[in-house]
Amino acid sequence: MSLESVRYSRGSLLVLNQLLLPHSSQYEPVTGVREGADAIRTMKVRGAPAIAIVGSLSLAVELTADPPQQTSDLLAFVRESMELLVGARPATAVNMKKAADELNSFLVQEAEKPGATVQGLTDSVVLWAETLLEKDVRDNRMIGDLGAQHILDSTNGRAGVVIMTHCNTGSLATAGYGTALGVVRSLQAMGRLSHVFCTETRPYNQGSRLTAYELVYEKTPATLITDSMAAVTMRDRQVSAVVVGADRVVANGDTANKVGTYQLAVLAKHHGIPFYVAAPSTSCDLGLPTGGSIVIEERPSRELTDINGVRVAAPGIGVWNPAFDVTPNGLITAIITERGVFKPEELKVGLSRGL
Ligand code: MRU
Repeated sequence: MSLESVRYSRGSLLVLNQLLLPHSSQYEPVTGVREGADAIRTMKVRGAPAIAIVGSLSLAVELTADPPQQTSDLLAFVRESMELLVGARPATAVNMKKAADELNSFLVQEAEKPGATVQGLTDSVVLWAETLLEKDVRDNRMIGDLGAQHILDSTNGRAGVVIMTHCNTGSLATAGYGTALGVVRSLQAMGRLSHVFCTETRPYNQGSRLTAYELVYEKTPATLITDSMAAVTMRDRQVSAVVVGADRVVANGDTANKVGTYQLAVLAKHHGIPFYVAAPSTSCDLGLPTGGSIVIEERPSRELTDINGVRVAAPGIGVWNPAFDVTPNGLITAIITERGVFKPEELKVGLSRGL
């Protein structure tokens, strides 16, 4: 059975508590929007697509259990819930905000249709959230297959490819299959994956805690490295491509992703290794022209100074802990989406045209 970040059936949502991984795999019920926002804020669930999916499904389960009696109450409840969910984590990742905007305008349009009833509208919100879940898995499979094929085509038929990845972009960060890890998964399914190097991803260790867990679970040939070993690994271990995910890709192809992504892109350029961003169109924010205007989440200093609650840094030292960084488009070979693989400068046109 493949790993699941969420288990959903109508009226029931269980979220895998990622804070307990890799030691314990525990699914916890989320019965409504407040618990959904809490799971996002406390990082029980993380990863841009998974945040939007858990947020939207938490709304769906609350509406199923306690449907509003008036259309005006439904509209207000959905608007306020989405606001709470968007604010649960400072917004470098765009997916939750995009989902909120999409749902609010969809609902207003539906409510204006002649014959609209509060029951019918509530059902359509629940269905909308359920579709998000299904679409994410479908999109990720497409990203995986398109990305794998593109990498194989550009490595001139080399028997097995070696991938370096960062942070966690797998089943745990999405509704399933993963984005950058989806590419790895597809390469493995095609029998063309030689090895994966995953970075530890300091300071929050999504790589060593979560990606390593997924790779072991999937029996993928893989090695964990610290972030500071990336250069020597690229030079000495025949890395064919670096593939990472994204929290927000803007119109010119600049990409925000987990802090440390930018340095991997610089290193890849130095070593002549292609650098790919794998992201669904739900992570693309074509309304922002460049990465300079992306808000970067800053996280508590204890994530750097402490390990498992034990202080390791010298008391009194100042700390800066940005959770993400922006990789400029010039360092990105291509962006792998469910609608095609595009050079950064072709993204905007490519996404509007699609496959
Ligand atoms: O802070 P996190 O763990 O939510 O950050 C996750 C990432 O940066 C991922 O690379 C990104 O969300 C893409 S997940 C498919």
